[in-house]
Amino acid sequence: MLAIIGGSGLTQLANLEVLRREVVRTPYGEPSGALTFGRLCANPVVFLARHGYGHTIPPHRVNYQANLWALQQAHVTSIISVASVGGIRADLGPGALVVPDQIIDYTWGRKSTFFEGGDAPVVHVDFTEPYDAGVRQRILAAAVAAGEAVSDGGVYAATQGPRLETAAEINRLERDGADVVGMTGMPEAVLARELGIPYAAINVVANYAAGRAGSANGICFDSIEQVLLGAMGRVRRVLDHLCDA
Ligand code: HPA
Repeated sequence: MLAIIGGSGLTQLANLEVLRREVVRTPYGEPSGALTFGRLCANPVVFLARHGYGHTIPPHRVNYQANLWALQQAHVTSIISVASVGGIRADLGPGALVVPDQIIDYTWGRKSTFFEGGDAPVVHVDFTEPYDAGVRQRILAAAVAAGEAVSDGGVYAATQGPRLETAAEINRLERDGADVVGMTGMPEAVLARELGIPYAAINVVANYAAGRAGSANGICFDSIEQVLLGAMGRVRRVLDHLCDA
């Protein structure tokens, strides 16, 4: 079964035929909300709103461990993360969709592993390719089938938030090789890897990153809402085709 973790702008899936909701208890505390089990184009899907169904949990307070653990308990076989980002690369303006292929992690102080040691042996997971190639290809094929333009590949910079970045920070991220910047990609991706669940992401560019193009003089929150409204409709169409596959 496919899991979809929805971010800002995607707290529910309009086309999801909801069958049941389940509150899952985990050794790591409470997930962001109940798991919503349903069908998307007749295929079983479980949906979780990363920031809670009322969008009240900021990126640094999301219980990523509990979310991933709960999805594993639900026996999901792959996860697609939908997350909004700021565009750093000039061609990634508001509304662009990106399927990233790399991550740089700038977050700190988050619980970013299930392997805490103690009595258990030390475990290091391979994270050379942070996103699952098979899930990435499924998303890209669905985008083609849906007729939606998607950028194949890009480096996702995960920042701590919840504040947005300074213009100098964005310049530094660009020098590091980042194409987009968001606040929730880590530790979500690595926790999925630790649990052995294939995971990939669709990033929705909500705004130019700080100091760039239309955000040269600051980031306009009013337009972000409009951009996400339109772009999430396109993400839903991609997801519909993905479930057809
Ligand atoms: N920076 C970090 N995270 C974001 C941004 C941004 O500009 N836009 C949407 N999520």
